[in-house]
Amino acid sequence: METTAPLIDPFARAITYLRVSVTDRCDFRCVYCMSENMTFLPKKELLTLEELDRMCSTFVNLGVRKLRITGGEPLVRKGIMTFFNSMTRHLDAGRLDELTLTTNGSQLGRFAKDLYAAGMRRVNVSLDTLDEQKFARVTRWGRLGQVLDGIEAAQAAGLRVKINAVALKGFNEDELFTIQSWCAERDMNLTFIEVMPMGDLGNEDRIGQYWDLKDLRARLTENFTLTDLSERSGGPARYVRLEETGQKIGFITPLTHNFCESCNRVRLTCTGELYMCLGQEDMADLRAPLRASPDDALLEDAIRKAITLKPKGHDFDYSRQEVGGQMPRHMSHTGG
Ligand code: GTP
Ligand code: 5AD
Ligand code: SF4
Repeated sequence: METTAPLIDPFARAITYLRVSVTDRCDFRCVYCMSENMTFLPKKELLTLEELDRMCSTFVNLGVRKLRITGGEPLVRKGIMTFFNSMTRHLDAGRLDELTLTTNGSQLGRFAKDLYAAGMRRVNVSLDTLDEQKFARVTRWGRLGQVLDGIEAAQAAGLRVKINAVALKGFNEDELFTIQSWCAERDMNLTFIEVMPMGDLGNEDRIGQYWDLKDLRARLTENFTLTDLSERSGGPARYVRLEETGQKIGFITPLTHNFCESCNRVRLTCTGELYMCLGQEDMADLRAPLRASPDDALLEDAIRKAITLKPKGHDFDYSRQEVGGQMPRHMSHTGG
């Protein structure tokens, strides 16, 4: 297959990063991500593993160099290793720089070795607290021990682990240095994320939960010397190095520092909808053109057309003591 003209959006941003949610299901029910009683999609709505392969391969053909698999929890999708194993061919051919995963870690014990064998070298694990009771509270259904075992299995298999922690006021504020030193001891990078107004806010108080990362950063300077780093990992995180430990800490700040101007990614849901921005409603259905013909021409046209609709950025805003730019979509729908 010849690689054709790359994907460039109306703001001259090259789209080289595809995030693919392979399932909307999850074995946890994190309070900022899902409601307790979620209705999931019927299985017949999902793209099959073969269709996911075709979708991703078409994006690779159009210049996507980084593929991140998300969910829900991607490792609860049945047969998911078949999909990973088939993506290995793009890594081997040098058409893809990175095949990676964002996971809650619960299934890593089962999958870590196979993921490494499929060519994966790095995984991001979501973990907001190291306290068993708090973990049970924030994930509703999760067990901390299982996740810690999963992380250990991932490292033993040779995978680099990055921890993603959502910064939650009154929840993990007091654990800042515990989480930081725990990661340092295990040679894991750590990224903090500002909580975004996604999903129904009815019973959750997102403004109350919101912990400004400028404040978190200032707290870190009480114990460490911070050096800003210019390096990027292809995502929205900005990094600092703690000189005393050499450790890298990332900040994902959709609220206090909008990073949309350098956005390089789009998101495919498990039903084949392509979301052009995490914080906007704009989307295009790619399942119909995929299913309409065994040839990829229709699908390629649909992808190119969708990219011309990519908005400038999100409108998340908590600045006036009310939530602005809120998204009714749950995070599990688009995979974060
Ligand atoms: P690296 O490859 O390690 O840089 O990962 P990444 O930050 O691209 O991916 P990850 O899945 O770890 O992203 C962590 C979280 O950052 C996501 O789940 C979202 O909550 C948030 N995030 C990632 N991309 C975007 C984006 O384009 N817009 C906004 N608002 N948030 C994003
Ligand atoms: N705001 C910020 N991050 C969120 N995540 C889930 N919901 C939210 C939200 N409302 C994060 C998870 C995980 C990633 C997939 O998205 O903690 O790291
Ligand atoms: Fe599952 Fe991740 Fe959502 Fe938690 S944040 S419910 S682990 S998809």
